[in-house]
Amino acid sequence: MFISDNLSSRNGHLFFADQDTTELASQYGTPLYLMDEDRIRKNLNIYKTTIRKCFGKDSGVLYAGKACAFRQLYRILQEEEVGIDVVSAGEIHTAYQAGYNLEKAFFHGNNKTDQDIAFAMDRRVGYFVIDNEEEASAVQEEAAKRRIKQKVLVRITPGIDTHTYEAVNTGKVDSKFGNAIATGQAEKLTERVLGLPSLELKGFHCHVGSQVFTEDVFERAAEIMLEFMASVREKLLYTAEILDLGGGYGVRYTEDDPLIDIETKITDVAERIGITCDRLQYPVPAVLLEPGRSIVADAGLTLYTVGSVKEIPGYKNYISVDGGMADNPRYALYRSNYTCLPAGRMNEAFDKTYDVVGRCCESGDILKVSAALPKEMKRGDILAFCTTGAYNYSMASNYNRIPRPPVVMLKNRKSYVAVRRESLDDLTSLDV
Ligand code: LLP
Repeated sequence: MFISDNLSSRNGHLFFADQDTTELASQYGTPLYLMDEDRIRKNLNIYKTTIRKCFGKDSGVLYAGKACAFRQLYRILQEEEVGIDVVSAGEIHTAYQAGYNLEKAFFHGNNKTDQDIAFAMDRRVGYFVIDNEEEASAVQEEAAKRRIKQKVLVRITPGIDTHTYEAVNTGKVDSKFGNAIATGQAEKLTERVLGLPSLELKGFHCHVGSQVFTEDVFERAAEIMLEFMASVREKLLYTAEILDLGGGYGVRYTEDDPLIDIETKITDVAERIGITCDRLQYPVPAVLLEPGRSIVADAGLTLYTVGSVKEIPGYKNYISVDGGMADNPRYALYRSNYTCLPAGRMNEAFDKTYDVVGRCCESGDILKVSAALPKEMKRGDILAFCTTGAYNYSMASNYNRIPRPPVVMLKNRKSYVAVRRESLDDLTSLDV
């Protein structure tokens, strides 16, 4: 029943990070995003310690803010001294306002506008991950104007199919991201970047996909990247210092998902890098990993209040809750499955199935199909969706003019608001 060890039940109530979720629902209202601060730090530390042990002190973790970003989170990242992957001026701005030192930020994305590039340089973002030729020229131009030398990585597509769902399968040759080794474009862009006087090429990046469980994808990616790097050394006389392998390790949303042991995974990648570098006589580069989901997913939980229970005899049962695709669009977009629990009725048998749906005006607004829950669910019951820390708040919208829920952080049996609930006036605050 519990897919993560920060969940438990006591006296029929669901506890998360040692706190009664029904009490949190009454205190803060629903829908409500909860985040377990200790779990975020614990997940970060598994990466930090293992990377340091396997790759040494120049290597490290870059948290991918697209999974979830708000100021308090960047404060934690600053305290934990980890780097970040940013993809927009908005993420850069949020980190900056939180006092995060952006020298450790890597700016990603396949279409950075001229304004984005200038803004990132104003904020002293440490590294740009160059995706394409036009971007290389634009970053060169802006850096030359400022008389700086901008550190960059070049994004490479290793040509790997991770067999995750299509929207996040990014390592294949035909991806919109990066430059394929197979087509010669990776080498061509590398040569171009090496020839630009205001860019300092520090190494290479790849990202194979997200929610990845396939056995040795990261090992294979590392090996392909190192072979590419060795060929670049031979042809262009350039030796890279950094190999950034992106993010992507999968997390458990339901009992059907395997539990990935990050420490073992990284150790296996390190071993393959060691062997490959030996074979190629290539100096072992600093290695960066960019986890997003595996840092915040199991640190998150969403609470909803049931509004109606509808039984359609001979067909199915529906439970409508006070949130939905506006705060979690992942079922609508990817058919993602979640574990759903009755926060105040944990001692009962879960012997009836319901489709849990949201309050938006469209039939695709589904949170979970066939959720097993107690009989006689009723208006006012609290439902918890587990593992919602990644790609929920960050992907939330105001569809149907629904205000976004607050984010409440849980720490040492206390709670604090990290993002307040949106008000109706917030919704109209941009309207003129
Ligand atoms: N680095 C790069 C360059 C990425 O594109 C991504 C994710 C990450 C790191 C972090 O990957 P993670 O460790 O979180 O898997 N909205 C989708 C996920 C999109 C992921 C995009 N890139 C979802 O809700 O499943």
